[in-house]
Amino acid sequence: MLQNKVEKALNEQVVMEAESSQIYLAMATWAEIRGFAGVAEFMYAHSDEERQHMLKLIKFINERGGEAKITALKKPSISFKNFKELFKALLDHEVKVSESINELVDISLQLKDYATHNFLQWYVAEQIEEETLARTILDKLNLIGDDKGGLYLFDNDIKQLTGD
Ligand SMILES: [Fe+2]
Ligand SMILES: [Fe+2]
Repeated sequence: MLQNKVEKALNEQVVMEAESSQIYLAMATWAEIRGFAGVAEFMYAHSDEERQHMLKLIKFINERGGEAKITALKKPSISFKNFKELFKALLDHEVKVSESINELVDISLQLKDYATHNFLQWYVAEQIEEETLARTILDKLNLIGDDKGGLYLFDNDIKQLTGD
């Protein structure tokens, strides 16, 4: 059985993953209407992944005798001037998610909930990957700067860069 504090924290993470999915959906739209099909595809795929992260949590909570709560979500903000701002927002968001996962790990250890602790290790590894990917993309964008041809190639290249 999940302890109340763990269940509550896991449910907060459900909301965070759901909001992540919405944020990347908004980013996909932002890129798509500007003609950047590669970035749009990347963001749509990322949005789907975040939904999977959410579902994994929901199933875990329910299977451990808790109850997953489905709530309203915050509207994502989508005011980016350029790709750099877009991917900086993505990195900042992933760092926030990592902090939240770390907090959850901490709670599970404090309450000696080793099953939840074990379950969360997948998320710890996933966050390392996602932060690395976001930093790699930002490095590329820094190299490209405002070069239009470079951005065109970047849009094509990003199809090869998949998160998990
Ligand atoms: Fe996630
Ligand atoms: Fe993520």
